[in-house]
Amino acid sequence: MIRRLLSVVAALLAVLCGPVAAVAENIVPAPRDYEKRNGVFTILTTTKITHYPELRSLAKYLAEYLPLSVREYNGEAGGDIVLRLNKNLADEEYRLTVAPEGIVVEGGAYGGAFNGVETLLQLLPAKVYSGGMPLPAMVGCCEVADAPRFAYRGFMLDVSRTWMTAGEVKRFISVLAHHKINKLHLHLTDDEGWRVEILSHPELAEVGGFRGGDSPVAAIYGKWGERYGGYYTQQELRDIVGYAAQRNIEIIPEIDLPGHSRDMARVMPEVLCDYAPSLSLSDGYDTRNVLCAAKEPNYALLKDILGEIASIFPSPYLHIGGDEVDFSQWMSCPDCKALMQAEGMAGGEELQAYFMGRVASMVEELGKVPCVWNEAVAGGRFTRTSQVYGWESIAAARTAAADGYPTVVMPGQSFYFDMRQSRREDGHIWAAIFDARQCYSFDFEEQGFTADEMRNVRGVEASFFSELYLSHRDMEPNYLYYMTYPRICSLSEVGWCGGSRSWGDFYGRLTAGHYSRLAAMGVGFRLFPPKVAYADGVLTASTDDRSRLYYTVVGEDEGTEHEYTGPIATDKPQLYAFRSRFGGAVSPEAGVDARFRMLQPKVTVTSSIPPSTKYPYTNAAAYDGRIAYSGRTCMNGDWILFTFEEPVRCRRMEIRTGYVQLPRNIFEQGYMEVSEDGETFRRVCDLENGIGAVDNPRHAIKAVRVVSTKDGNGAAFVTLQSPWVYPVL
Ligand code: ACM
Ligand code: ZN
Repeated sequence: MIRRLLSVVAALLAVLCGPVAAVAENIVPAPRDYEKRNGVFTILTTTKITHYPELRSLAKYLAEYLPLSVREYNGEAGGDIVLRLNKNLADEEYRLTVAPEGIVVEGGAYGGAFNGVETLLQLLPAKVYSGGMPLPAMVGCCEVADAPRFAYRGFMLDVSRTWMTAGEVKRFISVLAHHKINKLHLHLTDDEGWRVEILSHPELAEVGGFRGGDSPVAAIYGKWGERYGGYYTQQELRDIVGYAAQRNIEIIPEIDLPGHSRDMARVMPEVLCDYAPSLSLSDGYDTRNVLCAAKEPNYALLKDILGEIASIFPSPYLHIGGDEVDFSQWMSCPDCKALMQAEGMAGGEELQAYFMGRVASMVEELGKVPCVWNEAVAGGRFTRTSQVYGWESIAAARTAAADGYPTVVMPGQSFYFDMRQSRREDGHIWAAIFDARQCYSFDFEEQGFTADEMRNVRGVEASFFSELYLSHRDMEPNYLYYMTYPRICSLSEVGWCGGSRSWGDFYGRLTAGHYSRLAAMGVGFRLFPPKVAYADGVLTASTDDRSRLYYTVVGEDEGTEHEYTGPIATDKPQLYAFRSRFGGAVSPEAGVDARFRMLQPKVTVTSSIPPSTKYPYTNAAAYDGRIAYSGRTCMNGDWILFTFEEPVRCRRMEIRTGYVQLPRNIFEQGYMEVSEDGETFRRVCDLENGIGAVDNPRHAIKAVRVVSTKDGNGAAFVTLQSPWVYPVL
């Protein structure tokens, strides 16, 4: 009676305060079958979560979101929210029934019940994700029958290039879980950091977990001057594994071999091939990063390491890398060459297959399935039981599947979330520039996957390689989440939904419901840019995602955001840049094209460092996207000078060492000077991430010079871009 009364009060409150139950069309990823029923179930503070013994951990998880008591099912009629197993369902399949009398979640196994619980959370107001869910809360009655298309719905996180603490990894896992992603591939080692404690060889993490400062590992990405890094103890990793398992996420560890091993080689130089590299170009720094394939002690070392990795991670899979091996190191090695001759191997690919084959056998002896990047199987001679990660291209993924390998599909142009999302945003560009929509549009049939190939496709994975994260650590919202959401929402549907998908339907669910959930989770995701139009002296901006619009005006009040409330009458639309915001989410800037135009004044580039022969300094004067390389690394006092044919008036001038998409091969420390006459120079700033800039210079600039104040940059050369010259608007 009391309960019924409370329900009536809650229903009344709902009418007065607006609907509290989310509409089911907004579930992400979309369920296979959803049927709305009449009525509501009201969750009261007295509602109980009753669970099968196998689902205790899941009940506790649900109770973190709904402050309810938990009890084990004792054979009697269940509680008000029942979590149970149903052996007639596939492992990750679930049924969710919301009726006025109660809620039942049934899964084939833990994962299925977990998926049902995630759908249940999405039927509640978004507040459920931000903690302190107010009760009573109503859930609209419905029946959901749902199962994933693919058993493998993965994400790869690179914790090597940018160190992320155990707490940060857990937080990332918690949001993945809300999207029914069920694998986290942890890229634990690479050239720039070894992130896992190895008890039998503690120096790998204790020394190799740090770079820069007094570490033998040179800094490559950010924080050049200081010691930087960290590693997970085995205990911390076991804790992460447990945290992930409660969220139906299996952690697949990766030790990237035999390439991408510069960090390991700096800690243990004996793993490298037996030849003396030329160090003169790199300021005495050995940049070799491939383990010698002919040294027997290397295999003994790897057996120790992989044995410990296998004991930390219960996953049946262990990833051993195999990507981007620089064969030239083996070709310079007398031992590798002798091995190749003795075994009749024609080239590097075969030696790679030999190396990977031996390491894969170790993994199999540990009772695990070896996982490898697609290049590893190019040389044949490889066990067909290895799981292949097709990243280089769609063709590479299809070839692996056609050759009979269990294949995870993740071509860079749709699934590498370290790629830029539009031309003017930060991010890599080598695979593509793409947003959540392009990721969503990935379609196996359209990409030519045959039925035979599809039989070997285990699923999809997206990745975040973190070379760029470190130099964006101070960014708000957090760059990791800005780059990965809502692209992970797209990934979740590519991996989950078996039927036809439509962007319009998905975008509707995102903006009508899911953006609010992300905001409540505290995720600072990326909004699509606002639309901006200019006609008849009036500038207008709009969004279709319930975000708020803001603008800044060049020159007037730099950096100050005004809320956009309606069309702006102006004869200078180029002064305005618009951004939208929703919770902690933000869009990139938008405006009329002239707002983002750059000048290309004629310039001559000279330097105290001789240029490379292949990429001369004239490349940096061409404004066509090409970059220049110096012929050696930089020394303290080295300079690069840009002399303009005519003095340049501008609102900002930037000189950038390093790659366009990546602050690497830069002047790590230094300053920038400008000159109005080409003779006397005035220091205007220190370089940050290899970049110098001057804003609103009072006079036209005849020349600009960047000067290094540090010997070396951990690389054999410096790279250089054309000047970035922003016009006076
Ligand atoms: C990779 O992106 N090198 C796997
Ligand atoms: Zn060798």
